[in-house]
Parts: sequence; C-alpha cells; structure tokens
Amino acid sequence: MIRLAVRVRREQAELALAELLVLAPQGVEEVDLGDRIEYAVYGAPGEVPVLPDLEAAVGGALVEVVTTEVADDWGERWRDFHRPIDVAGRLHVRAPWHPEPAPGLLDVVIDPGQAFGTGAHHTTRLCLEVLAELEPAGAVMDLGCGSGVLAIAAAKLGFGPVAGVDHERESVAATGENAAVNGVTVVVERHDLIHDGPAPAAPTVLANLLGPLLLRVAADGFAGGEVPRTLVASGLLAHEADEIAAAFRVRTGLEETERRLGGEWAALRLDRPA
Ligand SMILES: C[S@@+](CC[C@H](N)C(=O)[O-])C[C@H]1O[C@@H](n2cnc3c(N)ncnc32)[C@H](O)[C@@H]1O
Repeated sequence: MIRLAVRVRREQAELALAELLVLAPQGVEEVDLGDRIEYAVYGAPGEVPVLPDLEAAVGGALVEVVTTEVADDWGERWRDFHRPIDVAGRLHVRAPWHPEPAPGLLDVVIDPGQAFGTGAHHTTRLCLEVLAELEPAGAVMDLGCGSGVLAIAAAKLGFGPVAGVDHERESVAATGENAAVNGVTVVVERHDLIHDGPAPAAPTVLANLLGPLLLRVAADGFAGGEVPRTLVASGLLAHEADEIAAAFRVRTGLEETERRLGGEWAALRLDRPA
C-alpha cells in the first residue's frame, strides 16, 4: 500500500483540504506538524491520486510531497478517516471495520489496500453506477478485477455466476478473500489480457482498465468470438472515450448507449444491438 502525503501551509490548509477531498473522497489523514499540516491518502498502487493532480489541488499551499510504501497491515491509524461510499442508492461499499449500512442498501465489504478497488476511485464508482442500473440477469465477467469490488457488487445485485480475471497474483488473492467475506462466489483466475489471449467473455462484461488496454481488448475481441450483451468499460480518460467507443463498434459491433463522466475519467456502457 502507498501513503502519499502533501504538506501544506497551515493558513491555507482548510482550502487545500477541500480540494483534496474531491480527489480522495474516501478521506484523508490529517497530521499537525506545527506551522504545516500534512494530509495523507492511502491506496493500492495506481489508486492514489497522481502527483500532478495532487500538486494542482493544493496549489500555492504546497510545501512538500512525501511518498512512502507501507505494509498492508500498517497500524490502525488510517482506519479513522477511511469512509464508506454509497453508489446509486443501491450499494454501500465499506471497509470491514465500518458498521453495516441501513436496510435497503447492499453491503459490499472490501479490505482496502490489498489491491486496486475500494470503490472510491472515480473509475470504480462510475462502473458501479452503470452496473447498478443494469437488469441483473445472467453471468458476469470482471476483467481486471483488482479487489473484486465490481464482481462482488454484481453478485450482490443478483447477477450470477460471476467470474473475474486479473494478471496480478495479489488481485486474484484479494478477490477470493473479499468474495468469501461477502458470502458470494466469484470464480477468479490469473489471466493477462496482453499475453494470455482474448478476454474471457460473459453476457455482461465489466472492464475497469486503462484506455490502451481497452483498445487492446477491442482489437483482440473475446474468447470464442462471443460478444457480450453489455460491456461496461471504465478506466478511460474522458478524451479517450470517442476512440474507445469507436474501436468496440468497429471490432465487436457493440454500440455506445451511455457515457458517464467523473473528474477526468469516463465510463461507457456498450450494448449489442437487438
Ligand atoms: C483500474 S484497476 C480496476 C480494479 C477493480 N476492477 C475496480 O474497478 O476497482 C485495473 C485492474 O486491471 C488489472 N490489470 C492491468 N493490466 C492487466 C492485464 N494486462 N491483464 C489483466 N489484468 C490487468 C490490474 O491489476 C488492476 O487490478
């Protein structure tokens, strides 16, 4: 897990915090350093905000940026500020130490820090929002499952059977562990979308991957030539959306039916024409 801290001038700290919370809605740790305040965010590699965004957010208040790698089981300190996330009035994504949600919300418990996907990152959130609107019917494949948050949410929403793949051993382990904690079954395997052949498919495919990898999936198609009924593609930058939608249309026949934006990120819902 990464701890990324910005130290800002005390007199400008409140303003800097407001901007930081837009980037890190799951919360930031606050440490009083006298004439400076340190705000720290934690996350799996790739999930913490990138340095230029962080620097832009705190602007002229910035004194120093400090990045450290911390063990996943590092103390209890950051538990105090990590906040649960509600999505689309349906899902409540929380850490194991948070209380259960009010009745009516589906409880998704994710141990943060093991792998990408606490639910707070724009790309995960956008994907969850689109997923929560789909008719929960049939099998789901989660490409690049990370912590398993999307696959677990799909299972809780009523999809099944649910499977996921990731090229990282840690992600495969985290998805399995998180699925067990949530009492759902996710069949998870290691699969590298670049080296191990076309992406495994299902009637509904969730793909929170970066833009270049989505283009690769579009180019390679799906295993066995199966085209999903619905593909939710996230992890792309807003300015990449047209190119990625076009690539899937040309290579697989999937048509864009929805586009959602969050920060600089976008998610696309692509459907097979009736
Ligand atoms: C943006 S994270 C998404 C994690 C989670 N699905 C979520 O929505 O929060 C992307 C995931 O894709 C995985 N990934 C990256 N490159 C991959 C590849 N070539 N093959 C398979 N998985 C890959 C990463 O390990 C990471 O877990």
